Amino acid sequence: MSTLVVVGTQWGDEGKGKVVHLLSEHADYIVRYQGGNNAGHTVVFDGKEFILHLIPAGILEEGKKCIIGNGVVIDPEALVQEIEFLKGKGIVFKDRLFISDSAHIILPYHRFLDRFRERQKVRLGTTCKGIGPAYSDKVARVGIRMAEYLNSVIFQDLLNRNLREKAPILKKICKVNQLRREILQKREELLPQIKGYIVDTSVLINKIVDQGKSIIFESAQGTLLDVDFGTYPFVTSSNPVAGGVCAGTGIGPTKIDKVLGVVKAYTTRVGEGPFPTELLNQTGRYLREKGKEFGATTGRSRRCGWFDSVLVRHAVLVNGLKELALTKLDVLDNLDSIKICVAYRHKGEIIRTFPMSREVFRHCRPVYIEVPGWRKEIKGIQQFSRLPLNARRYIRKIEELVGAKISLISMGRSKEETIF
Ligand code: GDP
Ligand code: IMO
Ligand code: MG
Repeated sequence: MSTLVVVGTQWGDEGKGKVVHLLSEHADYIVRYQGGNNAGHTVVFDGKEFILHLIPAGILEEGKKCIIGNGVVIDPEALVQEIEFLKGKGIVFKDRLFISDSAHIILPYHRFLDRFRERQKVRLGTTCKGIGPAYSDKVARVGIRMAEYLNSVIFQDLLNRNLREKAPILKKICKVNQLRREILQKREELLPQIKGYIVDTSVLINKIVDQGKSIIFESAQGTLLDVDFGTYPFVTSSNPVAGGVCAGTGIGPTKIDKVLGVVKAYTTRVGEGPFPTELLNQTGRYLREKGKEFGATTGRSRRCGWFDSVLVRHAVLVNGLKELALTKLDVLDNLDSIKICVAYRHKGEIIRTFPMSREVFRHCRPVYIEVPGWRKEIKGIQQFSRLPLNARRYIRKIEELVGAKISLISMGRSKEETIF
């Protein structure tokens, strides 16, 4: 038996897509357990770029099977679009994709409500994909699951109840009766393209684990976006942490062998919320990731900051991490010196652990140490010992500060630009 959970340790976009794709070479199944199409996982291979939102990155690896677990919220329109797009690129789906019959679905009114809330005074900067409203319905026990989407009588009944309940707000945004007709019509179009994939995935996953198959659980988002352990309320509405795998797939904790945290060599964040190490440029504007590095889902640019070891230590703790995959080290190639946040200062006090209080976190200022940069292109280096001394020292420093071993180093977007 070999089961590996790959989790993001920061605010998402750590490079999980690249790492999962890379490791999926040795896996039989790749499983998503939470989130939805708010995720954007980039995989670059053979010079081509793919961005996956709902379907596990393993689908790009020939012969690998993929599962979308019960903990994921699925927008049927987005799902069919993604399947069609990938089929167009030559990806085969037959007998390779399994979707949970208990996964909750995202309907257009979830997207409308997401956008509606984002227009209020306090914005979270969500992806507006309807994720929060769909998970709210799930927890409020009014959600609609895949199994119910398949059954037209049950679906219509649940849809009517939901629209009636939400009508007071929806009326401000759209014509509710028309919306109802559109949803039903769309379902007729989408269903034939989805229903062949729907199964009880918890039975399937337990069976393949018991058969000793090798499985990667691919997290979306990251620890700081976790609804329990992240920077609440500026979080997503699910549990990306490794603990989320059990509830999101139906396997017991005894069946998880290993957890690997993916961590960027610096810090980025999309959306709103405090960010202690956030960098300003000379004109006082926040630095943002440039060029190809825009958010893979919404195209928004990401705010940038120095590596924040307080946050990653927190991720190491709540995910039980012993090993990390360090990504995007190459981005730091040209710097004379590099700062690392080792603690926060809050009202004259030094804090070394992540403060769960939003009020405290908002006022935390970073305490940095400064280490020399390596000023050399590292792309293409194949061995750890060949890395410039200062790059090796930077890596060792991070290991020491966060209390986990770095077992994989990524220095470029493609598979080859990796050191194990
Ligand atoms: P994910 O959501 O965690 O899968 O990450 P994203 O795909 O949203 O964002 C990561 C971005 O960084 C993508 O554009 C990747 O192609 C890119 N990337 C991943 N690893 C590296 C790396 O080591 N170096 C560089 N320069 N880019 C990388
Ligand atoms: P991947 O899997 C980065 C952020 C949004 C917003 C907050 C809530 O690619 O790492 P939501 O739409 O989930 O309700 O938005 O979470 N967010 C992400 N940021 N990467 C992601 O996914 C994200 N998914 C959601 O920007 O701040
Ligand atoms: Mg992403």
